[in-house]
Amino acid sequence: MPIAPAAPASIADAAACLRAGGLVAMPTETVYGLAADATNGRAVAAIYATKGRPSFNPLIVHVASLDAARTLARFTPQAETLARAFWPGPLTLVLAARPDNGIASLVTAGLDTIAIRVPAHPIARTLIAASGRPLAAPSANRSGRISPTTAAHVEDDFAPDSPLILDGGTCSFGLESTIVACHADGALQLLRPGAISTRELEAIAGTSLIEPIIDPCAPTAPGQLVSHYAPNAQVRLDADDVRPGEALLAFGPAPLSTSGPVFNLSKKGDLVEAAHHLFAALRSLDATGCTTIAVMTIPTTGLGQAIGDRLSRAAAGRT
Ligand code: TXA
Ligand code: MG
Repeated sequence: MPIAPAAPASIADAAACLRAGGLVAMPTETVYGLAADATNGRAVAAIYATKGRPSFNPLIVHVASLDAARTLARFTPQAETLARAFWPGPLTLVLAARPDNGIASLVTAGLDTIAIRVPAHPIARTLIAASGRPLAAPSANRSGRISPTTAAHVEDDFAPDSPLILDGGTCSFGLESTIVACHADGALQLLRPGAISTRELEAIAGTSLIEPIIDPCAPTAPGQLVSHYAPNAQVRLDADDVRPGEALLAFGPAPLSTSGPVFNLSKKGDLVEAAHHLFAALRSLDATGCTTIAVMTIPTTGLGQAIGDRLSRAAAGRT
């Protein structure tokens, strides 16, 4: 797809593409984001497939206003204060998610929290309004590449099969948003330094930010500082049978036979569909009270790599 100048007609096309489950690269004041409808799990899975991301980091949901954000998450008083001071702008708040907020579980990687921001860039704002959807958007680069701050960077990374790119010129900050977790006890925790400084945040909050707890076993790259949803049950990979007390996480048209609980990630053997169901599947099997989730072998091609990464972390008891 070509780079489209951000005129009303191309924004309308981009909004239609998002509503139909497609991806759009949109300018924000921080970096370009690769956006999808956050309520459409398949569209969100396509973000990971397009980026070639080898793991499922939770994504930031972009909305038009504080009111829209309140429908997705519970705001603490501290979160209200920060949102009023810095939104629209390059601040992402991690908050307790409202159950049944309609956001696909792949967006939050199955967590009970959700990262939200209200971008300031007029084109991002117009696109959110025109699509009528909350937009999940990581930076619009292939995995492992540098975050893009121009439309040409995005095209360079994704050519020849680039998504529709709305050209909004050069991003003014050129640095990702600052991410702050707002805990129920009022504590504010810096999860990722970014376009808004700690000093600016502390001046408004009237309190010091607590530092992230870094898991010594985890890579320290941004995005890896976060605990992912971990099932209570054990996870047994590459199962070729299902034992008593086990639940089955199946894949493909020929699930293993069992009289216990089963969740088939994709009867068709489609990895995008499987990614879309992964976290909901882990949660629902875990909720059956099984001792172990037996996981059938899943191909390691395409999104299978990220699915395998997530499952092997779960199997290793990592959080
Ligand atoms: O400036 C930005 O934030 C850009 C633009 C496009 O908005 N987006 C961006 O997204 O940098 P991404 O996917 O590259 O980084 C998202 C970060 C990751 O570090 C992820 O771990 C964190 O947000 N995150 C998302 N949900 C979270 C959650 N529930 N708890 C903690 N961290 C979360
Ligand atoms: Mg990124």
